[in-house]
Parts: sequence; structure tokens; C-alpha cells
Amino acid sequence: MLSQEVIQNALKAVKYPGFSRDIISFGLVREISVANGAVSVMLQLTSPNPDAARQIKGECEQVLKGLSGVNHVLVDVKQPTSGQAETGKSFANQTKVPGVKHIIAVASGKGGVGKSTCSANLACALKHLGARVGLLDCDIYGPSIPLMMGVYERPAVSEKEQLVPPVSHGVKVMSMGLLLNDDQPVIWRGPMITKTIQQFLFAVAWGDLDFLLVDLPPGTGDAQLTLCQTVPLDGGVVISTPQEAALGVVRKGIAMFNKVNVPILGIVENMSYFTAPNGERIEIFGHGGGKREAARQNVAFLGEVPIFPEIREAGDRGTPMVVSTPNHPASKAFIQIAENLRKFLK
Ligand SMILES: Nc1ncnc2c1ncn2[C@@H]1O[C@H](COP(=O)(O)OP(=O)(O)OP(=O)(O)O)[C@@H](O)[C@H]1O
Ligand SMILES: [Mg+2]
Repeated sequence: MLSQEVIQNALKAVKYPGFSRDIISFGLVREISVANGAVSVMLQLTSPNPDAARQIKGECEQVLKGLSGVNHVLVDVKQPTSGQAETGKSFANQTKVPGVKHIIAVASGKGGVGKSTCSANLACALKHLGARVGLLDCDIYGPSIPLMMGVYERPAVSEKEQLVPPVSHGVKVMSMGLLLNDDQPVIWRGPMITKTIQQFLFAVAWGDLDFLLVDLPPGTGDAQLTLCQTVPLDGGVVISTPQEAALGVVRKGIAMFNKVNVPILGIVENMSYFTAPNGERIEIFGHGGGKREAARQNVAFLGEVPIFPEIREAGDRGTPMVVSTPNHPASKAFIQIAENLRKFLK
């Protein structure tokens, strides 16, 4: 039976030009009606680019005409004028970052669960797998990426007046921590933070990257939502601990990405278990909560990272585990998660 649901599912095959995301997940399809085999679809694009509209219209028509029972197709693609697009919210002002294939945000419902540790190690793990990687620290008030990646130099300014991200362990890094002196407190208002993040995306010479990982500040409040709307994200990763999963905090992270139409690439369970020196596996907070929550929420489970004091020590020394000891079980866990991520974003 031809229904709105059937049409919606079929349209998931149409990707936004240049993105790995489809037009449904971007929330661009506003109206679907179907009667006696005649299908009419209305899309509201947020970009004024006429080529994107033409391509999307053509692909939608092709997909819909291929459905059985369809005898007439009408695809109406609405676009803002250039002026409207600039002032628009959400995906409207999310122009792609030139040269960057995929932008992935790392978030969690609560602070201190290991977002920055996972971002740094996953960035290095993706690099280890041969990808070109950048790591953007969006934690303006509490940047910890410079310490974890061992970068302290101030970014140079290029001839084109762009900030040149320092490279550490083969990963390009940008953070507020590189631009401030240690004793300078950050007391900014929201709009300034949004502006800064936009500059971190568009006024930094990222060059060609396969992945740009974005370490978000803790929580899932308005500030994080605004960030997710500012950055043209391809997907989100939610970091959880078994405890957090048990308390339902993971759901907040998932809900945040859902609100801004960012597909959830999956959940990582950090501090999953501890391996005692005699090899015994000790599950301090219980274990498997992340996996169960992922199944409940119908999102992928990307993997689990055990607790090892070495992970913290490596972070404090500025050389993530994946770089210092790639054969350590914890590093292997990060590399496995990076492989799973890469599979999703081919
Ligand atoms: N799997 C792990 N094993 C051991 N220590 C860990 C592990 N994951 C994180 N840590 C340590 O836990 C602390 C908090 O981690 P991290 O700073 O990455 O969390 P966060 O979620 O980014 O915190 P915030 O919310 O403040 O940004 C750090 O000292 C880190 O070294
Ligand atoms: Mg952090």
C-alpha cells in the first residue's frame, strides 16, 4: 500500500548533495500527500543554491517514480533567497566546511564521562587507520584537548588570514585553550561563543580532512543545541558510562541530536570495566548498560572502553594511549570504535 510512510522511507535514499546524510534526516521534507497513485512532496531547502535544488528534485522524482503504484509525481522544492538564508537558523547557515568530508560531534548527557579522552583517542585512532583528521575543541570554558594532545603553541596566522591549526600526533588541533593565556578567564556570552565556533570552522585552515571530530562541552542544554546547529554535523557520538546509562542520562544526549536532526552514529560505553592486575574483570558500575540503552533507543553500539589508569596518565602527558601504546587493550578498543565509525561514514 502506498502511504506517507512508504514515501518517506523511499526518500531516505536521497542524500543532500555533498553530504552523507539524507533529506529526511535533515528535516527538509515538509509535506507528503498521496491519493490514487498521485504523490506530491514539498521540500523546504535552507540553502539558496539552485544546483542543490535541481539535483534533489531530480533524485526525488526518480525514486518516487520507481515505487509501485505511483502514476503521477509532483516534487516542489522551495528555497530561500540568498538574503534569507544568511539570517536563517539551523541548517540554513550550515555551509559545508571546505575540504572537510565528515564532521562528527562527541557529546554526553553529563560531564566527566570521558568525552575529551574519547575524542582525542578516536581522532588518533582514525589517523592510525590512515584517515586525515582534525580535532576541534568546542569546550570554550573548559578546554582540555590541548593538554590531552600535548599542544601548547599558538596557532600561526596564514597569508589568507586564517588560523593554522597546530598538528599533534598527525592530527590538526584547534581549541580556545591555544588562544588564551592560562590566567585569562573566559566570561563570554552565548552569541560570542557561537561566533567563535563559526570562526573555528571557517577561519581555520583545516585543509583536506576525512574527519573533523568536535569535542562538545558537557551537558545537553541550550548551549550544546546551539553548537550543534552552528556546526554542519554529519553525525553524533554519545559517550556514556555504565552508571550514566543506568540513570537514563544517555537519552538526553540522543534527544539533543534528534532535536537538531543530526543522525546518531552510536553510543560508546566508557569506563566500562576494570581489569585487575591478575586479569580479573571487575565491573565497578555494572556493565553493558550502554549496549542495552543503545538497543532500547534503536541506535548503534560502537564499543566499550575499559577503565585503565594508563588512559588518564597518557592524557595528562599529552600523548593519547592510541599513540603511546597502540597494542594496549584500551587502544585496541578505541581503534575498533574508530573502525566502526568509519564504516558508517563511507
Ligand atoms: N577509560 C578511562 N580510564 C581511565 N580514566 C579515564 C577514562 N576515561 C576518562 N578518564 C579520565 O577521567 C577524567 C575525565 O575525562 P574527560 O576529561 O575526558 O571527560 P569529559 O567528559 O570530557 O569531561 P568534561 O565534561 O569536564 O568535559 C580524566 O581525568 C580522564 O583522564
Ligand atoms: Mg571534556
